[in-house]
Amino acid sequence: MKKKVIRVGFAGSGFAAKFHYEGLQGVRSAQPEIIGAYSKTPENLEKFTRSREITAFKSLEEMIESVDVVHVCTPPVTHEPIAIEVLKKQKHVIIEKPFTGYFGNGKEDFNGDSFPREEGLSKALESIRKLLEAEKASKGTILYAENWIYAPAVQKEREIIEKTGAQILWIQAQQGHSGSHSQDYGKWRLSGGGSLMGKGSHPLSAAIYLKHTEGRVRFGKPIHPKTISARTHALTRMPNFENQGHLRDSYTDIEDYAIIHIVFEDGTIADITASELVHGGVKNRVEVHANNHRSICNITPNDAMQTYNPVDENFSDIYVVEKTGTKEGWSNISPDEGWFNGYQHEMEAFYRSMAEGIPVESNSSLGADVIATIYAGYVSAEKGGIETPITILE
Ligand SMILES: NC(=O)c1ccc[n+]([C@@H]2O[C@H](COP(=O)([O-])OP(=O)(O)OC[C@H]3O[C@@H](n4cnc5c(N)ncnc54)[C@H](O)[C@@H]3O)[C@@H](O)[C@H]2O)c1
Repeated sequence: MKKKVIRVGFAGSGFAAKFHYEGLQGVRSAQPEIIGAYSKTPENLEKFTRSREITAFKSLEEMIESVDVVHVCTPPVTHEPIAIEVLKKQKHVIIEKPFTGYFGNGKEDFNGDSFPREEGLSKALESIRKLLEAEKASKGTILYAENWIYAPAVQKEREIIEKTGAQILWIQAQQGHSGSHSQDYGKWRLSGGGSLMGKGSHPLSAAIYLKHTEGRVRFGKPIHPKTISARTHALTRMPNFENQGHLRDSYTDIEDYAIIHIVFEDGTIADITASELVHGGVKNRVEVHANNHRSICNITPNDAMQTYNPVDENFSDIYVVEKTGTKEGWSNISPDEGWFNGYQHEMEAFYRSMAEGIPVESNSSLGADVIATIYAGYVSAEKGGIETPITILE
C-alpha cells in the first residue's frame, strides 16, 4: 500500500529538533517529507538546514503554509502561541514537553522567585484552556511529545496493566541529571519553572498516563490526579554552594530540586523527584507497585551494555550515554539511546495517527493534566508543602 506523505516543518533548530529529525528517519507507517525549519537563531538554523538539505524558512507563517505538521521544538514560553498558529491553519502540531505553563508578565526582568503562585496556576490553566479550545476548533490535532510514554519499558508496563487489570497503589519515579544544556532553561520567563517543570514533567507524565490507563481498563474512564504536596529548593543558588565544576549553576530564578507527592482520585499515590543535582548521566526511572506485580522501568541508565574503559580519551569519539561526566571506568553504555528513550516509537505513533486518524496515547488531555498538576505543585511549595487540589480541565 502507498504510504501517506506528510510534509514536516520544525520550529526550533536546537537539541530537540535534532532528535526529532533522527526519530523521523525510522517512521514506517507514513512517509514524512521533511520540508524545512524556522528558528530564532539564524546561525543554528543555517547549520541545521544546510547539512540536512532542507529549507531555512524566514518566518513561521511561511513554514506553516508549506507543511502538514509542525514539530514545536522551541523553549516552553513559545509552545502555546506557535501551536495555536498551527492549529488555526488546520494543521497538526507536535508539542515538545512541557506542554505549556506560566512565563510571567512578558518583561525581561520578571522574577520567577517572587510572583504569587496562585496567579501562575490560574494563568497556566488559562493557557491550557486556549490550547484545548484551539484543538477543538481545528482539523489538526495536538500530539504531546512526551517520549517517556513511548519508552519501551513504559509501554510494556501499560501492557501488564491492561492484560492483568492491575490496580496501581504507588508509583515512585525520578528524572535527574547534572543540568540542562539549553541556555533558555533556567530563566522562569522562558522555561516556566525549574526542575519540577523541566525534569518532573517526564516522570509525572508517565505516572499520570499509567493511572489513566488503569482507569480506562477497570472503569472505562481515566483516573486523574486529585491533590499534590510539593517542596522545591534552589541548592546551586545557595551562597554556601561550592561548585567544583561538575554541576551547572547558572540558573537565575528557578528551583533545581523538587519532590512531589500526588494523591489520585481513587486514593492511590505517586512520589516523584526531579533535580539538576545528579552526577553520572541521566537518571530516568519509574517503579510501579501494584496489587498484583511490581515493575522497575530503568529507562536510563540500564544495563543493556556495560563497558570498562581504563583511559577516558580512548573513547573520545564514542558516544556513551547522555550527560555522563566521564567515559573512564565502568559505563552503562546506551547502545541505542533514542530507542530506550522512546523517541523513535513516539514518532512512529504520531505519524501513524496522522496517516490513519487513530488517537495517540500521549495527547493534549495528558499534557493538560501534567501542567495543571505542576502548577498546583508550585502553589503547594509556596505554602511549605501543604496538600493542594489539582484542577482537571477536559
Ligand atoms: N523530550 C526530551 O527528552 C527533551 C529533551 C530536551 C529538550 N526538550 C524540550 O524541547 C524544547 C526545546 O529545547 P531544546 O533543548 O531543543 O532547546 P535549544 O535551546 O537547544 O533550542 C531551542 C531552539 O528554539 C529556537 N527558538 C527560540 N525561540 C523561538 C521562537 N519564538 N520561534 C522559533 N524558534 C525559536 C532557538 O533558536 C533554538 O533553535 C523544550 O520545550 C524542551 O523542554 C525535550
